[in-house]
Amino acid sequence: MAAQQGDGSEDDATLSPVTAAILLPPTEHCLHSINSTVFIRQLPSQGLSFQLWPAATTFLTLLDDHRRNPSTGPLGPTLTALGSRRPPLKILELGSGTGLVGIAAAVTLGVSVTVTDLPHVIPNLSFNVKANAAVLAANGGVVHVAALRWGEAEDVEVIGREFDLIVASDVVYHDHLYDPLLKTLRLLITGGEEAEEEGRVFVMAHLRRWKKDSAFFKKARKLFEVEVLHVDPPCHGSRVGVTVYRFAGKKSSKKLLKANNANANANANANAIAIA
Ligand SMILES: C[S@@+](CC[C@H](N)C(=O)[O-])C[C@H]1O[C@@H](n2cnc3c(N)ncnc32)[C@H](O)[C@@H]1O
Repeated sequence: MAAQQGDGSEDDATLSPVTAAILLPPTEHCLHSINSTVFIRQLPSQGLSFQLWPAATTFLTLLDDHRRNPSTGPLGPTLTALGSRRPPLKILELGSGTGLVGIAAAVTLGVSVTVTDLPHVIPNLSFNVKANAAVLAANGGVVHVAALRWGEAEDVEVIGREFDLIVASDVVYHDHLYDPLLKTLRLLITGGEEAEEEGRVFVMAHLRRWKKDSAFFKKARKLFEVEVLHVDPPCHGSRVGVTVYRFAGKKSSKKLLKANNANANANANANAIAIA
């Protein structure tokens, strides 16, 4: 990995004229399902938040496949269930980086997406959203940009919790970020009874690079039901491919109690009828 992140070290630099002189041309990402292209500016010299990571491309491909055929493909059941429950779907992306996944989601699904990252990443994120204004407008997508620091409850309060779906790509890498990320996910997915009732979910594309990643999933499984939706074939020179996970709230003990009580009442009624 090119740079340390999440601690505000080398990514803190603002865009200088020197950096501007070594900008790469924007990368083009084709969405075949709608015959459109998303343009993304990367600024690799600014640090890892300004580069596109492999899991983002996998996510874009799955969104494109879903748009082409919603009834097949790994995202189908989740997106269809969420979309029918409370349209229009509202999506929040965590650790958006260059914003490819959030922009692609807004364009392919024609919905509102809020892309977020650390405060110093926001200018490039906003740049990329503006650069795709035409394709967003043409497809009924809207993208909002906001700072959201993992682990900071007040950032979640400011952004609100009325999102149906939380998405992210390549956000599990430094172990000191596991707990802050899980705290934010807990606030967004299982924060309050309302969230549990509405069945909010987190869909994350992840390329496993280190053994230590498993510590994140071990912690996550204690908090959420974690399911694998999709596994890419291994990338060239790698033993693993990008994996897409779905996290959902565990059934709370309160809900289980309610369900058990309902069953007990039903049994009691059946017995009473049988005796009578
Ligand atoms: C490896 S990059 C992935 C970027 C993008 N999602 C992609 O797949 O191309 C991880 C992202 O998480 C963001 N991030 C790291 N620590 C964070 C924190 N504490 N709060 C919010 N975002 C954070 C970084 O700024 C960066 O954009």
